[in-house]
Amino acid sequence: MQQRARHFPVRRWILAVVLVASVVAIGCATIDDLAPPIDATVLQLAAAHEIDADRLSQGRALYITACARCHRPEPVVRYTREHWDRILRRMSARAQFSPDEAEAVEAYVQLTLQAADLSPGGDP
Ligand code: HEC
Repeated sequence: MQQRARHFPVRRWILAVVLVASVVAIGCATIDDLAPPIDATVLQLAAAHEIDADRLSQGRALYITACARCHRPEPVVRYTREHWDRILRRMSARAQFSPDEAEAVEAYVQLTLQAADLSPGGDP
């Protein structure tokens, strides 16, 4: 009887730990997975388009902050470049971006995708 009484709290405790751990794991998988940091490949692609690192950082910062005002930031790689073209036209208006800000976010998203395509394991 006593064994039985102890049995349930332990299981509940394990369940609680598993739940908290998954929430933490999901939480930790956030920003860099959703909005990848600007790496050397992205910078190289940007240079070819005469876009500098500051502009990309501005784009990423807006993506993480202004774009996440209404919803969580979407994973950049979830949509194709063509799809993003259409999404960003709508969402930049929603975010009330200046043309300059809209361009910065677009540069960040498009070049990040382009770089992902070029990286091993990405679609060519
Ligand atoms: C004023 C609120 C608001 C802001 C700011 C906003 N969004 Fe959205 N977003 C929405 C809503 C609402 C939806 C749900 C679908 C819809 O209504 O189009 C959505 C949907 C999306 C989707 C899903 C794809 C789709 O076609 O529905 C993506 C991706 C997205 N937003 C990205 C962004 C990005 C990137 C930015 C910054 C440029 C941004 N959002 C800023 C409100 C916002």
